[in-house]
Formats: sequence, C-alpha cells, structure tokens
Amino acid sequence: MKILGIESSCDETSASVVEDGKKLLSNVVSSSMNLHAIYGGVIPEIAARSHIEVIIPVIDEALKIAECTWDDIDGIAVTYGAGLGGSLLVGVMTARTLAIIKNKPLYKSNHVLGHVYANFITESSIEGYSPIDKSPDFPFLAVIVSGGHSQLVLFKDHFDYQLLGKTQDDAIGEAFDKVAKILGLGYPGGPAIAIKAGEGDPTKYKLPIANMERYDFSFSGIKTAVLRLAQNEIGESYNFPSTKLSERLNESQKANIAASFQYTAVKTIVDKVKKAVIEFNVNNIVIAGGVGANQELRKQLKEAFNFEINYPDIKVCTDNGGMIATLGCYQAKYKKGIAIPEELDIEPNLVI
Ligand code: KG4
Ligand code: ZN
Repeated sequence: MKILGIESSCDETSASVVEDGKKLLSNVVSSSMNLHAIYGGVIPEIAARSHIEVIIPVIDEALKIAECTWDDIDGIAVTYGAGLGGSLLVGVMTARTLAIIKNKPLYKSNHVLGHVYANFITESSIEGYSPIDKSPDFPFLAVIVSGGHSQLVLFKDHFDYQLLGKTQDDAIGEAFDKVAKILGLGYPGGPAIAIKAGEGDPTKYKLPIANMERYDFSFSGIKTAVLRLAQNEIGESYNFPSTKLSERLNESQKANIAASFQYTAVKTIVDKVKKAVIEFNVNNIVIAGGVGANQELRKQLKEAFNFEINYPDIKVCTDNGGMIATLGCYQAKYKKGIAIPEELDIEPNLVI
C-alpha cells in the first residue's frame, strides 16, 4: 500500500509517498522560512501564499522521486489540523481536489499524531536518510516537543492513546524561539540557541521550572525570567525594551543565558517524562517534533533511563509529509479518519 501524504500546517509545504507504513519513498519539503526570518516568526499570510505557489510542484516531485504514477497511489492523507488556518486550507483543498479527480480515498490526519508516526519509518529508498532500526513497541510514551506543541501522550496501541498532559501556555519550541529573539540569535531559535548554548555554562544562572499539575507544562514563566535576567545583566530596569537587549549583552552573557535556558527548559520536560515512566510502567519512549533534534534533550533522557531511545532522522522530526503519509497508511489499515473529499474542513485548533 502506498499513501501520498500532504503537509502544509505551518511554513513547510511537503509531500511524500510512504509504502506499508514504514518505507519512505520520497519526502519533498519546501520551506518558506527564509521569507519569515526577517520578521522573527512565521507570518500566516506569507506562509499561505507560499503554499499555493509550491504545493503542486512539491507533490509532482514527491511522486517522481518515489517513481510512482497516480495509478500506484492507494490513498491521500492530508493534515487538517492543528495549524494555521490559511496554511491548512491550501493543503486540504489540494488534497480534496486530487482525491476527487484521481478517485482516491482521502484520510484526514492530525498533525501532532503525525509527528509521533515519524517513528514508524524504518526503511527508506532516499539517499542521505537514516531510518531508525525498529518501530516502537506498544505501550510507549510519546514526548511531543515542537514549535506549537508540548505534550505527553501514552499510546497503548494504534489509535488508542491517552493525553497525560500538555503545556498550558507556550510550547517548548516557542520558548526557544522567543529566547533566541531576546538574545538576537535569529529565527528559528531552537538550533541557534543550541549552538550558542554549546559555548556557555548551563549552571551559570538558575531559572525557574513552573510547578504544574500532574503532567502539564508551562513555558511562559521561564521566558519572562530570561527577559528579567538579561535586563539585570546589563544593569537596566524591567522597562528596558526586549528588542534592544541583544545589542548590549556580550557573547559570554548570551552563551550562558542560552545554556542555562536550554538546560532548564529541557529539564522541565525530562522531569515529567521520568514521573510518567514510573507511574505508567513503560520502558519505551518515542520523541516527536522539531525540538527532538535538541542534543541537550537527548543527553538528559539518556542520563535518566537505562533503556535505549530511538530518534527519527531529523528530516522527519520537523514538519514533513513523510510523517503524514506514514500515519495515513495506518489510518487506511485501521479505517480511521476517512474523509469525504467534498466536505473535509480544516480544524486549526485540533487536539490530539
Ligand atoms: O515540529 P516543528 O518543525 O514544527 C511545529 O510543528 O511546531 O518544530 C519546530 C520547532 C521550532 O520552535 C524550532 O526552534 C525547534 O523546533 N527546534 C529546535 C531544534 N531544532 C528545531 N529546538 C531546540 N533545539 C533544536 N536543535
Ligand atoms: Zn509540527
């Protein structure tokens, strides 16, 4: 079975063909990130316009690389939420149209669930891609850490899962992006913070971990704490504008703030993961989302557990069609999320 996956929930337009829920035949990603970088964050209208320009060529390329014609495709899976309304609309309308004219079943895919399913890609025919050796065994704990989401989800089986907790305000990736903005490190902030943190001392400043109910998180406090710390470091009051801080901080201050922030933000997640592993007695953890690329996260998890944690190739950690095509294969197999092409609508606030 071959499924075409289409992803356009944020600033990446992506399409992929996956075979039997495990083999990545293609994964084409076109990002409009460079168009947003000067604004320090994704501008929804620019993202939507860019999706319109590239979505058809991206799909054509994905079919070509996978050496597929439309006759080889058994279904189309498309992200219908969560995400930016205008961006989601482009992918969903394209998928609806293709499902009708090519007469293919259509599956509506949850973006966050898609991130988890990147862990099921164990084979690839694409050069330069390293798949994980083995798909995760159930039950597993999914640690979903991206620019839009921070969630802990317990998976008992395919489509049988329980949300244990989530962020009550900012996602961890968003906190990385905002702190990077304060430090003038550019966008996207996650990789920039990670590099700068490598030059700094993570124990230099003590930053707060919000005390949240059970498995919930909060990242808005640490972001404000970084702002106050930076103002303090240059001897200014809390009225000093955040946009002018980076000019006044020296490189060593920036590195130490980045390292201390990264250490604490990651610890916030890892502390709850430790708690969940004990309470639910799981010995399988799956990492999903862009922040999964973070080496400090990987280091702290390695120190916390004596079992092996597999990480998907970074190319399927950040937003991509491959994760959606993989999820789509399982949706087709288990008959989940079958959509009527004439009726499928977007759900920007879709939850897992
Ligand atoms: O999963 P993703 O591509 O998009 C969403 O669905 O949100 O995640 C993007 C997020 C951004 O906030 C980016 O700064 C963060 O992942 N990120 C990282 C790293 N690489 C990407 N955060 C920390 N360390 C990294 N190495
Ligand atoms: Zn994502």
